[in-house]
Amino acid sequence: MKEQNSFSEKEINPLHNIEQWDEDVLERYTEDGKTKNEYRNYDNPQRDTVREFYRLNHTYQSYDFVQQKREEFLQFKRKQMRVWDAMDFLNTLVDDSDPDIELDQLQHLLQTGEAIRADGHPDWFVLTGFIHDMGKVLCLFGEPQWAVVGDTFPVGCAYSDKIVYPEFFANNPDYSDDRFNTKYGIYAESCGLRNVTMSWGHDEYLYHIMKDYLPEPALYMIRYHSFYSQHREHGYEHLMDDHDREMFEWVKKFNPYDLYSKSPKPPVVAELKPYYEGLIRKYLPETIRL
Ligand SMILES: [Fe+2]
Ligand SMILES: [Fe+2]
Repeated sequence: MKEQNSFSEKEINPLHNIEQWDEDVLERYTEDGKTKNEYRNYDNPQRDTVREFYRLNHTYQSYDFVQQKREEFLQFKRKQMRVWDAMDFLNTLVDDSDPDIELDQLQHLLQTGEAIRADGHPDWFVLTGFIHDMGKVLCLFGEPQWAVVGDTFPVGCAYSDKIVYPEFFANNPDYSDDRFNTKYGIYAESCGLRNVTMSWGHDEYLYHIMKDYLPEPALYMIRYHSFYSQHREHGYEHLMDDHDREMFEWVKKFNPYDLYSKSPKPPVVAELKPYYEGLIRKYLPETIRL
């Protein structure tokens, strides 16, 4: 059963598919770590779609919206399934553009995991690469794209101009709310991200599913992997504490595997499945609740 959202179809799914957001992030950040200056200038019909996506994201991701989504989804009363089956479930997300060149969700996750494994990292890091986007199942529960993917950022305090398309925050009710529109808003200086509410999406959702099972660096990677305005742009140093700074080294280590491990050669699922099933057995419970 899909949740009833009070948005029009256009407001729910402005992107052709949710990978379009990932591809756009890839456009933004070159492999040598530089931000492309021409990012916002080039002429590309995809651009308008992404722009509309961010307009909706920045307009609606307010403090109250996030609280409402947390209330709605962090009770995990929708499904109970094995982790691998949740991956298969995620893979039912229909991709309606460029079917020839697009890799499906499972392939992106396997490629991320395999790239981490090839570099000799610990097995929990490989597992993290494999599951990091599992929270995108939110799309299958009828959630709007802009409440599943997209750059994440703190709510409850001023939006950083380091967030992509910051001008769209002017439409957000919190922008003119005195409780939320100052540098610290409802938070205190260096309060630590554990005390900060992030915008709602697949990162935060999966963090709550996994928080009892994986080492803390893995949880940081899952929870903050789309927080580009901090891990790439350092726009929220003032809310971070020393522990966050230590853990963000892992988030930064993870990011290139997410962005640059995409190869057009699809991994052979049947060959890799036993290894990943083994990792799931080692760290995660028999079933998880979504
Ligand atoms: Fe992601
Ligand atoms: Fe990803």
